[in-house]
Amino acid sequence: MRELFRIEDEKLQPGSARTFSWDVHGHRRGGFIARHATGVCAFVNRCPHWNLPLNDRDGRIYDPATRSLRCSVHGALFDPDSGVCTSGPCEGGSLPPLRVSREGSAWVVRESLLGDGRLELSQRAEIAVVADSDRESE
Ligand code: FES
Repeated sequence: MRELFRIEDEKLQPGSARTFSWDVHGHRRGGFIARHATGVCAFVNRCPHWNLPLNDRDGRIYDPATRSLRCSVHGALFDPDSGVCTSGPCEGGSLPPLRVSREGSAWVVRESLLGDGRLELSQRAEIAVVADSDRESE
């Protein structure tokens, strides 16, 4: 599976999320990794309601009060383990999953064979992966 993003464990603080993006044939795709109450998850950053990114301007996605991933646009809540929307305008929909694993001191996100991101992610394109936060500091 193609690696999309890598982050050192110490940089992913409890309750925090990091967004990243990659290009497939000139089309930008976005994803995120988040540390929630019971673990670490990664999904395509696309709310099933209006296909918009979940994060707010400060990059927040995890809501500790509800222990859910929260879309900043209309407040939909998602289970961080399954990506299923549990409350809000897209209840019953789900976030396309990415594969996340621990490798040494880092968390590594890879494309997944599950979810509706499958066709986009499995193309044999040259993929440029750029962390949004790194781009802002350039
Ligand atoms: S775009 Fe996410 S709840 Fe509307």
